[in-house]
Amino acid sequence: MTVEGDLAGGSPELRIAVLLSGTGRTLENLNAAIAGGQVPARVVAVVSSRAAVRGNDVARAAGLPLTVLPRRRFAGVEEFSDAVYRALSPHAVDLVVLAGFLSQLTIPERYRDRIMNIHPSLLPLFGGHGYWGERVHRAVLESGMKVSGCTVHFVDERYDAGPIILQRCVPVLEGDEPETLGARVFAEERRLYPEAIRLFAEGRLRVEGRRVRILPG
Ligand code: GRF
Repeated sequence: MTVEGDLAGGSPELRIAVLLSGTGRTLENLNAAIAGGQVPARVVAVVSSRAAVRGNDVARAAGLPLTVLPRRRFAGVEEFSDAVYRALSPHAVDLVVLAGFLSQLTIPERYRDRIMNIHPSLLPLFGGHGYWGERVHRAVLESGMKVSGCTVHFVDERYDAGPIILQRCVPVLEGDEPETLGARVFAEERRLYPEAIRLFAEGRLRVEGRRVRILPG
């Protein structure tokens, strides 16, 4: 497959596909950031891996083309990934944004370093299989750490393991419960994810092995 869109010098309007499995807060936030002019991009497709989640309604309400591909109907990661990429192929997608997407994907060459995820911890801590939702924040509290945060990273074939783009810290406060810590982390996610997508849109992210260099604006 060929790579569509030329991002070398930054694209005026990045064409984004959003993949989700849950409440769609990340999609809502991205829509707001785009509408507010913080991200020079357009969401051209949404794929959901679950049939009855709030995120699907968020996509519909925003008038975005939605494809629902329930993960449990596919035998394995390969079959599911093929269906996802088939759904994206008519949309000339520049960047795939995982937004609370809980399924693993294969990464075809066409999408290498073109799929981003945000994780609600300071990776590589508290990431990997099983670390999602409230469990992440519960594990952070149990560890006794005094800081947590969020991480935007490029996606490779392993859970939460691709090259790190941006990270932001939040304090762990006395009396925190998973819910209060999670809310503090998500407030930071609302700023961090649009910032990372903007850097991508501006052609300012260069992957060098495990490191992502941020080029000057
Ligand atoms: C957040 O915890 C984020 O870090 C993770 O998914 C959660 C948001 O999901 N990737 P949603 O947007 O509310 O569905």
